[in-house]
Amino acid sequence: MPGGRFVIVSNRGPFTFSRDESGKRTYSRGAGGLVTALTAVARRSEGSVWLASATTPEDVEVARRGEVLEVEELRVRLVEHDEGAYDMMYNRIANPLLWFVQHGLYDLPYHPQLGEGTRAAWEEGYLAVNRNFAEAAAELARREKADAVLLHDYQLYMTPLFLRERLGEDGFVSLFVHIPWPGPEEWRVLPRYMREGILESLLQTNVLAFHTARYARNFLDTVADVLGARVDRDESMVLHEDRRVWVRHYPISIDPAEFEELSRSEAVLEQEEFVKRLPGRLVLRVDRMDLSKNIVRGFLAYGRMLERHPEMRGEVTFLALLQPSRGGVPEYAAYARAIEESAEEVNRRWGGGGWRPIELSMQDNFPRSVAAYKNYDVLLVNAVRDGMNLVAKEASVANQKDGILILSETAGAHEELGEYALSVNPFDIDEQAEALYRALTMPETERRERARLLRRAVEKNTIEDWVTAQMGDMQACLPEDEAGRESPP
Ligand code: G6P
Repeated sequence: MPGGRFVIVSNRGPFTFSRDESGKRTYSRGAGGLVTALTAVARRSEGSVWLASATTPEDVEVARRGEVLEVEELRVRLVEHDEGAYDMMYNRIANPLLWFVQHGLYDLPYHPQLGEGTRAAWEEGYLAVNRNFAEAAAELARREKADAVLLHDYQLYMTPLFLRERLGEDGFVSLFVHIPWPGPEEWRVLPRYMREGILESLLQTNVLAFHTARYARNFLDTVADVLGARVDRDESMVLHEDRRVWVRHYPISIDPAEFEELSRSEAVLEQEEFVKRLPGRLVLRVDRMDLSKNIVRGFLAYGRMLERHPEMRGEVTFLALLQPSRGGVPEYAAYARAIEESAEEVNRRWGGGGWRPIELSMQDNFPRSVAAYKNYDVLLVNAVRDGMNLVAKEASVANQKDGILILSETAGAHEELGEYALSVNPFDIDEQAEALYRALTMPETERRERARLLRRAVEKNTIEDWVTAQMGDMQACLPEDEAGRESPP
């Protein structure tokens, strides 16, 4: 937000710190789409500070010193949480419960099973961490004379409530939800104290933002239904207890220039040697190992394609680049095993004669992902649900093979890219199998045209546009501009 000074707050920070063998402090980049995007915001708003959770022993050292560290032009401040409280927030409430409800991952006849344990994890974990965040953010906002506090994502839903108590009505607070927002019935899966508590807290913000128009609409429906709040759908606004909250959508994006530069880097060129050695045409997926990404069904669909189209056997390799994620949540650990088993099953059934149908790589190797982006013939993004899915955007600009995107109709990116991709229902294995076959056998001219239009669609809305749109709206709401405050941003 050009010109402004902000306190940006998210659970995952841009870096985690550690010590190398010689005792020197080193750092590595945080994972996931949120970090990529917020890095762009922070770089464009000089003087802003990014507040995040301390997650390693060295992070805790940094947090305890209370200093603002400057790393790669970013100013970072870490906050230490009680270890037990953080574990409950992250492994009991945020990642199984909220993530599962918002991505539609529960098999509802059996799960979730809520009870006393949930309530304890909520009160002693989620609320405690959010209170801690609010305290640190309020202190930082005062010290830095910040114009606004920008909160991010589902780990921080209760922070607006505690922050409002500390900043009063004049403090400007926004919260960006980076994951899907479901409809009211799905939201009602959460226990009453949680579903109402979160909504009440979110209505303490000035602006509440989502990636797509659908999520913003779903949110309005949810507050109207669950809280009985007054909603103005024309203005996309909630009127609640003398407050008005703007509900906006800004589709997040990437910096295409950054990917062009990365594509030429030494590290990526090195990884390209690995990618180019894989036999046949290349089907690719790049994901965190997350249940929402629908990795197992993707392998089943690929197996079905090989079953129905024997002529494709030996002519294609499916490269799955999967980054380990949230191993402390039992559902994730089980899913990691299911991924390996289903890949092995396809390889056992259809492979042979030196050909392995699926090449699985379970590690965090960003240069390898970019190398694969450049070289795929087909990219599979079949998420059950996904807030946006930046892989679809990154890959579309980096690809040099007129690659075809197969895109889940329930990924946020579908609102912008669906027209140029092959759309699939993430639950329909036959449809995905046929989409894979169609993509692999598509005439050159159609491939070229689709790839061109995809690239153009991404370039039309870059990360720069994402930041500018939010800044513009925020200027209209900031307290100095009383007139603007009365009108919708
Ligand atoms: C998604 C979420 C982020 C999260 C990221 C990585 O992008 O929206 O909030 O940071 O996944 O997940 P992790 O649990 O490793 O932070």
